Amino acid sequence: MNLLRKLSLIACIATAATVMAQNVEITTPGMSMLLQAKQGENLKFIYFGNKLAAADAEVVRATEDARYDAYPAYGLDCSREAALAATFADGNMSLDLKVADVATETAADFSITRITLRDKVYPFTVAVCYKAYSTVDMIETWTEIINGDKKKPVTLRKFASGYLPIRRGTVWLSSLYGQWANEARLCEEPLEPGMKVIKNKDGVRNSHTAHAEVMFSLDGKAQENVGRVIGAALCYSGNYRLAIDTDESDWHHFFAGINEDNSEYHLRAGETFATPALALTFSNEGASGASRNFHKWGRKYKLANGDKLRKILLNSWEGVYLDIKEAEMHQMMADIASMGGELFVMDDGWFGDKYRRIKDDSSLGDWVVDKNKLPNGIGGLLAEAKKLGIKFGIWYEPEMSNTVSELFEAHPDWVIKAPKRDLQLGRGGTQVVLDLANPKVQDFIFDMIDDLMTKYPEIDYVKWDANMEIKNHGSNYLTADNQSHLYIEYHRGFERVCKRIRAKYPELTIQACASGGGRANWGVLPYFDEFWVSDNTDALQRVYMQWGTSYFFPAIAMASHISASPNHTTARIVPLKYRCDVAMSARLGMEIQPKNMSDAEKDLCRRAIADYKTIRPIVQMGDLYRLISPYDHLGMASLMYVDESKQKAVFFWWKTEHFYNQHFPRVTMAGLDPAKSYRVRELNRIDEKPLKWDGKVFTGEFLMTNGIEIPYNYSDWQNGCDLSSHVIYLEAQ
Ligand code: DGJ
Repeated sequence: MNLLRKLSLIACIATAATVMAQNVEITTPGMSMLLQAKQGENLKFIYFGNKLAAADAEVVRATEDARYDAYPAYGLDCSREAALAATFADGNMSLDLKVADVATETAADFSITRITLRDKVYPFTVAVCYKAYSTVDMIETWTEIINGDKKKPVTLRKFASGYLPIRRGTVWLSSLYGQWANEARLCEEPLEPGMKVIKNKDGVRNSHTAHAEVMFSLDGKAQENVGRVIGAALCYSGNYRLAIDTDESDWHHFFAGINEDNSEYHLRAGETFATPALALTFSNEGASGASRNFHKWGRKYKLANGDKLRKILLNSWEGVYLDIKEAEMHQMMADIASMGGELFVMDDGWFGDKYRRIKDDSSLGDWVVDKNKLPNGIGGLLAEAKKLGIKFGIWYEPEMSNTVSELFEAHPDWVIKAPKRDLQLGRGGTQVVLDLANPKVQDFIFDMIDDLMTKYPEIDYVKWDANMEIKNHGSNYLTADNQSHLYIEYHRGFERVCKRIRAKYPELTIQACASGGGRANWGVLPYFDEFWVSDNTDALQRVYMQWGTSYFFPAIAMASHISASPNHTTARIVPLKYRCDVAMSARLGMEIQPKNMSDAEKDLCRRAIADYKTIRPIVQMGDLYRLISPYDHLGMASLMYVDESKQKAVFFWWKTEHFYNQHFPRVTMAGLDPAKSYRVRELNRIDEKPLKWDGKVFTGEFLMTNGIEIPYNYSDWQNGCDLSSHVIYLEAQ
């Protein structure tokens, strides 16, 4: 762009900011949000949804009632739910916030509009912020709450990140719920009168039981590729509360933010409290469309290294559990290398000196190699990995300790614990959570990772686990009057450590694991490359869990591993091909003892890994089209990924039930170019002969209106493949 054009653009933006000061319009390529920001009046919400043409925006602004405050504060219209509530030092529990200023800064890929609201009486301001991307359909909103008093604190009782009114009609809510080993189950329900609350209070992890992301389908139960859908994701790693109040009005009132329960916040004189971002998207292409918006935004702007393909790995956990031995580590490395894998990750069990990690009841925090298990230390393992041409990764649980550990002996005050109370203990009957509010604890964790990486810069991957919730409310570091800041300060401390690690080691792959899928959220993902979806690796149950997870998170971030059969969690026997075909639909890995596999099984995995290398860019970077949901109980599920140019695609089909002569729907594809012709080729074949359509060319139009016939059973079903599955690669000619 030449200088003159640049200057005139800047002038335009500046003018726009002044002229539009009252009529705020926040836009992305496909979305508009209209606000009314009249100086000295309340900030009002007018519209959020599909991108409005300029003429429509003008008419909408003139005709829609600006009924609701864009960030409702408690105090002058007391019967309504509020996003913000505060108590001043003189006991006044009310706020009266008026628009003082509107400012917009523009960068290459986004603009940030900051609308400053000022209390009419008290020195208290709130900047309501909107970050709108110009390349993806996402608006992040958050607030910066400032206590402008010179001396006195203000107590924040409510401090949501954002509020959105959604017009009532036939609105359905899609959310994720679950528990350990059954994470991210999709729940779809109509919004009925009353309050729907989705919350977390774990303190450390926040996505086992429910998720901080939701979708609202405005046209009845969400369909995958048609219909209007609003998506919302709170970008936060700690306790959250999403609430939808369906009151007597024509509107649902959606609030999202940090869970204020037991967390009232004392805002010091002059202090700013920034709430985490709430990311909002809108799509006319159903739930899959909203997911694609989350995925694109996530890969481009949030996820650590979201533009880099992930390696295919073997993790040692389900193969050997805590029984780490050098010889076995070497054998596992050799096995994964021989199957075409690229990385080996040594899980829990490798550390402890005075207290050895033999069971899960000791040693966390004592991050020194157990020389009995690994006589040649990490250096020896790295040398072996190098010899085999693969990378090496290692497990840590940095935020935790055990009462049986040298760390606890040295620093009992670093542990989260209420004074005068007995410690409530976690895993193994001895686990405790370190107090990340304490800067010394933050330094300890940073130094531990920093020392490791300084000594062994070849380490490629860290699995960062977190296996306990906060069971004891109490911080030795926080002052007596700020004990209610514990949950918030924990996550501030956690984020500070993550930021320091990322600043120094931007390329290190870090997995967020938290007893499985406890840390699938957009608050941690700027610092983590991926997360462990669940400790449950049963491929059939994974179809359901990964389906739910894919609503908000891209496949590149979803670690999915081929494991043993019978499965260690569910005891289900699942054919190896099916296990491969499910793991290949996300970030493929293995979690098995390969020495217990037959040569034929290893060969199947070798072929799956080779095929995955072909489809990896499509799965990890492509657009997701979910086709048939396992939650619709049609006996099968199907989805596909299409690359940006619509040249290549990969289609997945999994049976979810197995009955003889069962009828399944024929699946029509989506996302292809109707005018292109695609050669279809089945991957991971175990049949004796190819299916009739294998290798043939079909138009995108045909595939999207008719699909291809998928046989219910394998032609060589005698090989024990009841839960059949198919992976089909499509390439435009
Ligand atoms: C819980 C994780 O989810 C597992 O994958 C494994 O790393 C264990 N912790 C190790 O203790």
